[in-house]
Amino acid sequence: MSLESLMWVEKYRPHKIDELVNQEEVKERLKPLLQKKGELPHLLFAGPPGSGKTTTALVLAREILGDLVGDYTLSLNASDERGIDAVRDRIKTFASYSDRREGVPFRLVILDEADEMTRDAQTALRRIMEETSRYTRFVLICNYSSNLIEPIQSRTAIFRFKKIGHEEVAARLKKIAKAEDVKVADKVIQAIAAAVDGDLRQGINLLQAASAGGTELTLEKVNAVTGSSVKERAAEIIRVALGGDFPGARLKLVELTRVYGIPESDFLRFANEEIAKGDDEKTGEAIKILAEYDYRLAMGANPEVQLTALLAELAALRSGRDGKR
Ligand SMILES: Nc1ncnc2c1ncn2[C@@H]1O[C@H](COP(=O)(O)OP(=O)(O)OP(=O)(O)O)[C@@H](O)[C@H]1O
Ligand SMILES: [Mg+2]
Repeated sequence: MSLESLMWVEKYRPHKIDELVNQEEVKERLKPLLQKKGELPHLLFAGPPGSGKTTTALVLAREILGDLVGDYTLSLNASDERGIDAVRDRIKTFASYSDRREGVPFRLVILDEADEMTRDAQTALRRIMEETSRYTRFVLICNYSSNLIEPIQSRTAIFRFKKIGHEEVAARLKKIAKAEDVKVADKVIQAIAAAVDGDLRQGINLLQAASAGGTELTLEKVNAVTGSSVKERAAEIIRVALGGDFPGARLKLVELTRVYGIPESDFLRFANEEIAKGDDEKTGEAIKILAEYDYRLAMGANPEVQLTALLAELAALRSGRDGKR
């Protein structure tokens, strides 16, 4: 099973505009634009975390490009760890193809965290937007539109996403719990909704994390998940991996990096502390493996891929011990 399909945020990500909750104004303004696809302006989605911005961009891309969405859409994160030059190069290359295809009005660039770009990078982006506007449309995503330079703001149609209300968060979580056969009392759902304060992504992740390994979700389980520190979680992931359970460790890692957004370097530091506590013949080997991945990340390798591979190697240490020796 793919990593994505294990995550409830992906499993329950809306596929149609109508499935989005709490963004009526955005929905109403987007619908007419979809009637005249060829005339779509550049778009700017602004709003709080977990309110549906990325989801809307993905839905839109599919509505416009249909089955060709994969070939004609470029999704990037502006705060890409490889640096803004890499982002710029990729947009430039992608946007400069001018091949036209029946039914494909233009190429689409979805640029997340656009407000993380420096002013210089934004100026360069603006230039690219202009140079490629015949064949390319941009969907820029940010938390605060005011962090974008004025020339970009004025070249885009701005859509403001609202923070999702507690009641809507609660209703969505209830629906998901039901679909997953998780028994959960109203007050527990309310507690999650209060904790995440409108961030539906965090709410769904919390629901999933607290439901792991049980069919009934109690307040205690929710508190256990919200209460433990990032350091404890990282240590737990390492213990699970060293115990030989790669899928389990991988799921927890995804939770940690996506729900709590912890930097990879922090994860490695906590991982190192946890591994160093061991004192069997595998400890040295595990530390060497960790050092190798530390190096790869420093060289700019993809963090999610590398950390997943790290867990696989740590888990394999265990099966090596049980098996060959
Ligand atoms: N309005 C919504 N309606 C239904 N589900 C939503 C909505 N907003 C968020 N979700 C759920 O939360 C997940 C994350 O949403 P999404 O990635 O669209 O958030 P975002 O606004 O892009 O947040 P961020 O600023 O953190 O990137 C989705 O996969 C979906 O399951
Ligand atoms: Mg997003």
